[in-house]
Amino acid sequence: MKVTVVGAGFYGSTTAQRLAAYDIFDEVVLTDVVEGKPEGIALDMNQSRPIEGYETKVVGATTGTDGSGYEATAGSDIVVVTAGLPRKPGMSRMDLIEVNAGIVRQVTENIAKTSPDAVIIVVSNPLDEMTALAANVSGFPKERVMGQAGMLDTARFSHFVAETLSVPVRTVRTLTLGSHGDTMVPVPSHCSVNGTPLRDLLPAEKIDELVDRTRNGGAEVVALLKTGSAYYAPSAAAARMVEAVAKDSGASMPVCAWVTGQFGISDVYLGVPAKLGRGGVIAVDEIPLEDAELAALKAAAEAVRAKQADVANL
Ligand code: 2OP
Repeated sequence: MKVTVVGAGFYGSTTAQRLAAYDIFDEVVLTDVVEGKPEGIALDMNQSRPIEGYETKVVGATTGTDGSGYEATAGSDIVVVTAGLPRKPGMSRMDLIEVNAGIVRQVTENIAKTSPDAVIIVVSNPLDEMTALAANVSGFPKERVMGQAGMLDTARFSHFVAETLSVPVRTVRTLTLGSHGDTMVPVPSHCSVNGTPLRDLLPAEKIDELVDRTRNGGAEVVALLKTGSAYYAPSAAAARMVEAVAKDSGASMPVCAWVTGQFGISDVYLGVPAKLGRGGVIAVDEIPLEDAELAALKAAAEAVRAKQADVANL
């Protein structure tokens, strides 16, 4: 299988590195508009193969906005779109909407031409809107276009819970749905540690505090870094989504997917649990939610629906 990662910034390059190290792909292509950058990163990564012990090679390709260079990506089975600007301290993800819409539109047009059968995984921000835009511009069936957010937000939440309770992170299960932004929806009824409900282990105020930190998890990293945004956890999340598609595993994970009536919500890209496989989103998992969680998910859907409609004109 062939996978392309568009954008050789930190998010894109760490995603490409993780995918190559899985050693399940024939080829990982890394592209960027900065001449020589993807080729240089690919060369460096390939030289780590003898040490790390994997065979998959990364191919770097400089691309132009006119579509030049995209031939290297042709026939990709999966394309991860990381192209776009990251936030600066104090910015919200939504502040990136205009500039990143132009970039994601142009990238998607070229990908749709050269890899018409690909599954597209968008990670550019604002996530829910850029995913809707990529679906719209590509004209692909909606199940072949999805966004990465829930895996990351859930991982952040789990990390904070593990740290707070001083337990191994593998014992913690958490879940966040909704948007990758202000209307992120934590789902306490699906959070547990070693099978014990989180609500039996932590007072409600403490859970709310961890939820708030999760909701601002990206901004907390941006404020510390001062230039650029998070990429280790985001790339781990994106790579696991790619793996589930590549292996046709049917693994269920929270992703930004097109909903068609599940949870009583229709026709919007929203963070929901979904099974992933070769065709992209195989099914949205309509897990049981408590009334307050369902109400919050519906509110998130309406908030992102309005923005997703705007993005079609950007
Ligand atoms: C984050 O939350 C990059 O949106 C990503 O860190």
